[in-house]
Amino acid sequence: MPDVLIKKCLFPAAGYGTRFLPATKSIPKEMIPVVNNPLIQYGVEEAMAAGIDSMAIITSAGKEALKNYFELNEKFEQQLADGKQLDQIRHIIETCNFSFAIQEEMKGLGHAILTGAQLIGDDPFAVILPDDLCYAPEQGVLSQMVDLYMKHQCSIVAIEEVPQEETNRYGIIAGDEIEPGLIRITDMVEKPDPAQAPSNLAIIGRYILTPDIFDIIRDTPPGRNDEIQITDALLTQVKQSGGVLGYKFNGRRFDCGTPPGFLEASNFYFENQLY
Ligand code: G1P
Repeated sequence: MPDVLIKKCLFPAAGYGTRFLPATKSIPKEMIPVVNNPLIQYGVEEAMAAGIDSMAIITSAGKEALKNYFELNEKFEQQLADGKQLDQIRHIIETCNFSFAIQEEMKGLGHAILTGAQLIGDDPFAVILPDDLCYAPEQGVLSQMVDLYMKHQCSIVAIEEVPQEETNRYGIIAGDEIEPGLIRITDMVEKPDPAQAPSNLAIIGRYILTPDIFDIIRDTPPGRNDEIQITDALLTQVKQSGGVLGYKFNGRRFDCGTPPGFLEASNFYFENQLY
């Protein structure tokens, strides 16, 4: 078995960021900084820490700032008396390969992932939703999942317990615990009402997907909110292969998709000098 099988990470970043209007009228939400680094940078660094060097970013029209951020800008650097603060981003740009695809219509997370099919090709790959910022001091969450993938060779979703009344904000899974913290999934539902939720185990924005998922998404009809949901496609994969795992990751996750979560993350990253 080769040492590292997961070499590519997909970042769905095409959404309009309506919860951060008016800022997101002209700034992509993923470019809003947690302290001084844009949100997406933390995701890219987490992917790098998992041994990934190919970043595929799904954007939409008007979000050119994302692409610009991952390009060298020598002219700008030359004008700075001290460019030290750019060392980190320069290192990222020099180490990784970035590719971009435009999602023309907002038809859901499954559709966003399918938009990246050509950038990914025929290998298993990771997905990071930049809104979910994960802090894991010993080993990054994606790196934990890559290790698990090496052992189990199937799709894996990161999960955490959420209050029952919040199940309608997440994909929710159910299944059998095959070892502590690892669940063989038997059911998954996108944003169920608390009364209908099969558990309170929520999917958070880290996935490892096997490439057969693309064909499954192509055949997946719109679901919750009339959007093509990755949760529905993964349930089909469960039925076809029986081998999708839910992993209770080690670490802390901040929901930066909402202003309170963003603020909590900013305070935590500032206080702990994690920027
Ligand atoms: C998406 C997924 C959902 C998952 C969540 C994690 O929802 O559809 O299954 O639980 O990300 O953040 P969104 O937050 O994009 O509505």
